[in-house]
Amino acid sequence: MEKKSLTLGFLTNLGLLLTGFTTALSGFVIQFAYHMGHHGHIDQSSLALRMDYGGWSHIHKVSIVIISLLAIVHIVLHWKWYKTIVGKKLLGRNRPVLTLTILFVVVALTGYIPWGIDLGGGQEETRKGFIEVHDKLTFILLPYLVIHVTRRRRWFISSYKRLKESSGKESRSSKIQEAPVKM
Ligand code: HEM
Ligand code: HEM
Repeated sequence: MEKKSLTLGFLTNLGLLLTGFTTALSGFVIQFAYHMGHHGHIDQSSLALRMDYGGWSHIHKVSIVIISLLAIVHIVLHWKWYKTIVGKKLLGRNRPVLTLTILFVVVALTGYIPWGIDLGGGQEETRKGFIEVHDKLTFILLPYLVIHVTRRRRWFISSYKRLKESSGKESRSSKIQEAPVKM
């Protein structure tokens, strides 16, 4: 792989790892500390892990905007993969990644639609309905994400080593070029 695309892939995947963590953490804190067992009433001032509801909601929203952009880059970088798998019907062992893709898109839609309803001043009941579905689907999404990442954990180490090696080679070759020629 060319260094430029390896760097882009590495930074995108690292970003996905970090924002995947903050998205899941903030989402589950809101779910367990403010939604479950509260019968539709959210106590916005109560603290969970030293932060109030507004803080967690803010973290979730910032994380999901970043993760959505990174996921688009991730999908574009693997577009050829999708075309080959779908075109040649190579489902089989690729099924988990395809399921993850569909789940991610549905989870994103069931999150962004209620956000849009909220911003547009739409019906609160409809908004809550979408969030209920969003909440539940994340329980299925999470294991798929965890499996996806843990199966590819070695990729992070090998890519890091390759990037380090190639930047080492680059700096060595630029030193050779810069060295004065003795007469
Ligand atoms: C926490 C978030 C995620 C992380 C850290 C992550 C990381 C990775 C890594 C390390 C690879 C292998 C290296 C590469 O080819 O780039 C990979 C491959 C791939 N990922 Fe992700 N990914 C994440 C989320 C997603 C999501 C949400 C989708 C779909 C919407 C997705 C679709 C793919 C595809 C299609 C491949 C290539 C096929 C394969 O390796 O089996 N990933 N991902
Ligand atoms: C992976 C675990 C996730 C969990 C546990 C989770 C959970 C939640 C919960 C409980 C809410 C309601 C927040 C509130 O009461 O203010 C919410 C809102 C939202 N989620 Fe997630 N979520 C997750 C992932 C995602 C992802 C991947 C996206 C999009 C890419 C997303 C997009 C949204 C959006 C846009 C809202 C705002 C809805 C609104 O304010 O009306 N979430 N999420």
